[in-house]
Amino acid sequence: MSANDNIQIGIIGAGNIGNVHIQEFKKLADVDVAAVTDVYQPLAVERASKYGIPKVYESYQELVQDPSIDAVIVCVPNEAHAPVAINALKAGKHVLLEKPMAVNAAAAKEIVKAHRQSGKTLMMSHQRRWEWINLQVKEQIDKGALGQVYNVKTGWMRRKGIPGWGTWFTQMSKSGGGPLIDIGVHMLDLSLHFMGGAKPVSVFGTTYAEFGPHKRGIGTWGKPDWNGFYDVEDLATALIKLDNGGTLTLDVSWAAHTSFQNNGAYVHLMGTEGGASLGDGKGRLHTELFDRTADVELTAPTADEGPRARMSRHFIECVRTGQEPLTSAMSGLANSLVLEAIYESSRTGNKVDLDWSL
Ligand SMILES: NC(=O)c1ccc[n+]([C@@H]2O[C@H](COP(=O)([O-])OP(=O)(O)OC[C@H]3O[C@@H](n4cnc5c(N)ncnc54)[C@H](O)[C@@H]3O)[C@@H](O)[C@H]2O)c1
Repeated sequence: MSANDNIQIGIIGAGNIGNVHIQEFKKLADVDVAAVTDVYQPLAVERASKYGIPKVYESYQELVQDPSIDAVIVCVPNEAHAPVAINALKAGKHVLLEKPMAVNAAAAKEIVKAHRQSGKTLMMSHQRRWEWINLQVKEQIDKGALGQVYNVKTGWMRRKGIPGWGTWFTQMSKSGGGPLIDIGVHMLDLSLHFMGGAKPVSVFGTTYAEFGPHKRGIGTWGKPDWNGFYDVEDLATALIKLDNGGTLTLDVSWAAHTSFQNNGAYVHLMGTEGGASLGDGKGRLHTELFDRTADVELTAPTADEGPRARMSRHFIECVRTGQEPLTSAMSGLANSLVLEAIYESSRTGNKVDLDWSL
């Protein structure tokens, strides 16, 4: 920490989401965004000059060796999550790791092991848990208002949203997968959170690639590289069983001929005492009163600071106090195990039991 006790942050990967994190952490009074690195140096230099970041490193290995840096935000493509996070933890840095934890479960387990040995904070970047409406729903679940949440239907069905066609996003070896890994992981994480931390134990699922290989379904996130290639799924559907008997269905697409759920993200929770329907930035709680169905609307305040501000503050609080982050290392592993099992189930045609052993 610096003399003024501010937490010193280093940004690893200055692309789209690195840029977002810089802006969020710069809003916090007890934090200095002190260093940045990117394999594409001009981008790191550009961000440093735009946001007044004092140090630019040529590599993440150099950045994590800087003793004045307390914590790093890992914003690199998925294939680099494990090597960068492990290197940073071994160098004694706290880590906020972008989703998905890693390109596969084996790499995610290596991160969990490095984290356990480090004694540092490792937090996954799942900002949806900090959305105002989602916080309200979780509060009601924790109070018991929904009873036991035993079934969840969640997903994110984009009609035309393939990001960065041909870049690392659409190459299996670099991304670990398509919409499952990119957007499905957010909905899976949020749903498991609502289900109270019950452990997923088995998965049955199928993936498809009907748009991407034909250069259809292209979205607006990231610049396409038409010299690249596409070998990930563009739609996936899965049933996930939990150790408390609960079930979760997950449907995701980057591209599909549908207007299902208005092509947005959604979660429908079914509990013994009540339920909730979330989507389109709106939320509704459901129950039965006087032998009638009864609903309560949830709307976020207009002046809401937004989920990323709350998530960033939570990370800094965990770094300062040593408390376990809400989006812990084990939550990242749970997501990785489920996603990998969906791919395996699709390949083999069988149900896949999750292997939690480290
Ligand atoms: N939480 C969210 O909602 C959210 C949103 C978008 C992206 N992401 C995640 O953030 C990560 C980055 O995504 P993006 O959209 O910013 O991608 P991006 O391609 O825009 O940025 C990645 C940057 O990392 C740099 N890079 C690559 N390897 C590096 C290395 N070894 N060291 C330093 N820099 C390196 C690249 O040059 C690039 O500038 C991905 O894991 C993605 O899944 C999360």
